[in-house]
Amino acid sequence: MRTAVCPGSFDPITVGHLDLVCRAAAIFDQVVLCVMVNGEKRHMFSLEERLELARAATAALPNVRAEACGGLLAEFAKDQGACALVKGVRGGGDLDWETQMAQINRDLNPGLDTILLPARPEHLHISSTLAREMLRHHQDLERYIPAGAMDALNRIRQGKV
Ligand code: PNS
Repeated sequence: MRTAVCPGSFDPITVGHLDLVCRAAAIFDQVVLCVMVNGEKRHMFSLEERLELARAATAALPNVRAEACGGLLAEFAKDQGACALVKGVRGGGDLDWETQMAQINRDLNPGLDTILLPARPEHLHISSTLAREMLRHHQDLERYIPAGAMDALNRIRQGKV
């Protein structure tokens, strides 16, 4: 069984993330979406809230499960028996950063490679940062957030913005 991990902050999960997870699930036998802490960012949603949103978004995908991890990605991947990380890239900035991350994760876990999938053109402008900004301005998020996660997001967002 070939397992891949799709890691990220998912703060919150977007339709771009879900597309990436679906594409990974078509390539690998099993995909573990891993909701993580990005030490460079101040998250709007807690780890538990981000996990709830990710689970709601991926509930219909039979070979995908979502987990949370506050530690090292390379160790999480080893614990899951994963041979690959799958990440999306929207452009040159993402590519430079993800290439560095891929090398660090391979240093930490030599059995772990990273597959970078190009974002679909219609998702190039979509990011969690944009979704958070839309939330702060009380805008409709239906085009940016997976349908399965909207009920949970509308409940969780109360009191945050
Ligand atoms: O969605 P993001 O914010 O681009 O995801 C980045 C993330 C969470 C995958 C990255 O920050 C990460 O891997 N965090 C876990 C800690 C870790 O393993 N860091 C890399 C080696 S020091």
